[in-house]
Amino acid sequence: MSISTKNIAIEKITNSRIGEVDFNNLTFGQFFTDHMYECDFKNGEWQTPVIKPYGPIPMYPSAKVFHYGQAVFEGMKAYKADDDSIWMFRPDENQKRINISSKRLQMPDFPEDLFFDGLETLLKLDREWIKKGDGNSMYIRPFVIATENGVSASPSNEYKFMFLLSPAQSYFKSGSKGVKVLFANEYSRSANGGVGFAKAAGNYAGQFYPTHLAQEKGYQQVVWTDANNHENLEEAGVMNVFFRINDTLITAPTSDRILDGVTRKSIIEVAKDEGIHVDIRKITVHEVEAAAKNNTLKEMFGTGTAAVISPIIGFGYNNKDYDLPKQENSYADLLRKRITDIQTNKAEDKFGWRYKVKE
Ligand code: COI
Repeated sequence: MSISTKNIAIEKITNSRIGEVDFNNLTFGQFFTDHMYECDFKNGEWQTPVIKPYGPIPMYPSAKVFHYGQAVFEGMKAYKADDDSIWMFRPDENQKRINISSKRLQMPDFPEDLFFDGLETLLKLDREWIKKGDGNSMYIRPFVIATENGVSASPSNEYKFMFLLSPAQSYFKSGSKGVKVLFANEYSRSANGGVGFAKAAGNYAGQFYPTHLAQEKGYQQVVWTDANNHENLEEAGVMNVFFRINDTLITAPTSDRILDGVTRKSIIEVAKDEGIHVDIRKITVHEVEAAAKNNTLKEMFGTGTAAVISPIIGFGYNNKDYDLPKQENSYADLLRKRITDIQTNKAEDKFGWRYKVKE
């Protein structure tokens, strides 16, 4: 069936796949809703967007994205509240950040009005797929790829912007039990003047091999250190990282090497609102090792849209392992509750972060 709204051409599915999904047992990023959103950039402008059944996109093998990785993405979430209303968390931040990433990769801005109109229309169309209840959300994956055919190493003249929706529970298989991380002392994720701050697809591909090596040793994520000396702890594979030493929460300042995480900056504000002392400063491997040895390292956790707030239960560095003791009154638990209650419309939103999807 094909219908047309003012701004988006909509082709609906004939049979939903929703019955094939076990919503109580979701693996992150494995299932996608019935529809997807596509908008092409050609002749210097974005064309009429389309919402169509989720499925393959025809592309030539010479499309530039396949050769030069000219691709950026975002991660966002939508939540269904008890009254069935749908909410997003600080979506304006992701809308701005995808354009910041695009600029760094010499790709065109995607306009704010198209972004919100497309996303809200898609979420409403597939609203049955958004489940209520603790830990349930709809992970939203906006992305832009270079679609022009040709293998000259130059920016594409054509792009495709898309939204995919994927029902989600926890990102890590270990869930709330937490993850073990390895502090990097050989490979690097980003360097000064590079693309570390952008959500460029290649930033993630470059981590796969060192992360695989870490996983073979029993760690789930690598915490990246500065490329010069491997001293300053910067960011984990899919998360920003926080360290609680005594009762101070410490996280690295953002830079051109570190992603300006939406969850990261929200946690900083909520923690301050809770009266927690937050220090945004460089933090070295040696400081954290020393704190682990003298028992002042009380907690570590990662923050991200997909990961939410994931406790880190131990770390490895230079063939030594450090386990963190279970913390009573953990900051991670407190802050996770504050943030998720705001996200799911259960608590007052004194920061004005919640965004209601228009009916
Ligand atoms: C997100 O939290 O949305 C991320 O970008 C992580 C993703 C690579 C799974």
